[in-house]
Amino acid sequence: MRITVIGTGYVGLVSGACLAELGHQVVGLDVSQEKIDLLNQGVMPIYEPGLEEVVKRNMQAGRLSFTTSYEQAIPGAELVSIAVGTPSAEDGSVDLRYVDAAAEMIGKYITEYVVVADKSTVPVGTAERVEAIIRTASGIEVDVVSNPEFLREGHAVYDFLKPARIVIGSVSSRATERMLRAYDFVDCAKLVMDRRSAELTKYAANAFLATKISFINEMAALAEEVGADVENVARGIGSDPRIGKEFLRAGLGWGGSCFPKDVRAIRFMGDKLGVPLPIVNAAFDMNKQARLRLVERVGKALGSLQGKNITLLGLAFKGNTDDTRESAALDLIRFLRERGAIVSAHDPVAKVHAHEVGGEVPHHDDPYEAARGADAVVVATEWEQFRTLDLKKLKDMAAGDLLVDARNLYDTNRAQEHGWRHLSVGRQ
Ligand SMILES: NC(=O)c1ccc[n+]([C@@H]2O[C@H](COP(=O)([O-])OP(=O)(O)OC[C@H]3O[C@@H](n4cnc5c(N)ncnc54)[C@H](O)[C@@H]3O)[C@@H](O)[C@H]2O)c1
Repeated sequence: MRITVIGTGYVGLVSGACLAELGHQVVGLDVSQEKIDLLNQGVMPIYEPGLEEVVKRNMQAGRLSFTTSYEQAIPGAELVSIAVGTPSAEDGSVDLRYVDAAAEMIGKYITEYVVVADKSTVPVGTAERVEAIIRTASGIEVDVVSNPEFLREGHAVYDFLKPARIVIGSVSSRATERMLRAYDFVDCAKLVMDRRSAELTKYAANAFLATKISFINEMAALAEEVGADVENVARGIGSDPRIGKEFLRAGLGWGGSCFPKDVRAIRFMGDKLGVPLPIVNAAFDMNKQARLRLVERVGKALGSLQGKNITLLGLAFKGNTDDTRESAALDLIRFLRERGAIVSAHDPVAKVHAHEVGGEVPHHDDPYEAARGADAVVVATEWEQFRTLDLKKLKDMAAGDLLVDARNLYDTNRAQEHGWRHLSVGRQ
């Protein structure tokens, strides 16, 4: 099938490359000339494990190409997938300007019936909106389906090729058949439903997962006070299949490009319609509290944060990605600085920009160098390589003895053996 994917970001690039891997003829289209130039040189504009091989293999096989030209990429495509960004607007609603722009351009260049799939996370009713834009611009009959994406950054290639399910929101059997054909070789449940339910499914999934994390962080706060260990509590409840083990890691809460903006969007939807969403609201508030609580604990452990040197290990919102959008680490930097601390950082791939945190943060390529002279070392991202850090070497580099294990990566006894005071989450 001839498929055009609009947007070559985390979702668009992975989707395009994986659809080519499934045997389709795919064009990746982006407005960013810089990204397209990089891709045409075989350089990945984002860090995503396993992606480079899939992209290169399919480019060499002639199944995957990249362009900035709508004029080249739209005519003749049987399926056009929209995977552009849908950031939060100031008021918490979804800024649909990139989706609208893509729809306008599809309308301008289509020459015959096409199925358009909304892969971007978009508010309920957007499929109808996109369909109207394209039909008005082209005068051609099209079907717009909702096809939300559930991949996780850091596992995106695997998740796309081996998803738990594919959701297709469609009101046209012709469009449904085409979507099912596009995903023919993906072995999973394919859930066909109406478009509005498909659009809400994506927000409900992210809000539920965010709530689960906020819940375990609430239990962590309680565990710290009552002398329990939240890791044991998580094991205890997670073994119940009705609850499940996933998303029960206590820590700094959720961040990234999706959960915060999607939870904000569903809150906005509820407010606008006058539907109270107390659970979603509480999940949101708890997330900020988890970070503030940790900063207060660090301040207490150091006596004060004023003038203290704090090294942050980890900037990405989670391991295996270079994405720092709404990362907990960025909040930590802001909160620590507001209280007078001097912050420096290390991350294996991610970097922080001065404008995101109100000033330059010295970055070190080596975690041990980063810890030199620190009063406290805060492990803020669950990078796999942080688990195996040489805690003795780290301690020798630091000036102080406080190891803030904000992702619960270390055993307290092991940390203490190397002279650390080990401050973790959800334990006394
Ligand atoms: N990142 C994730 O893990 C993830 C997971 C599931 C769903 N989503 C959703 O998928 C969508 C895309 O997310 P992302 O993380 O890939 O975003 P991104 O910012 O990484 O990529 C978006 C890309 O779209 C391009 N673009 C913007 N306007 C365009 C236009 N008019 N025409 C062509 N290209 C255009 C941008 O240049 C950019 O390269 C969002 O709605 C997001 O909520 C993201």
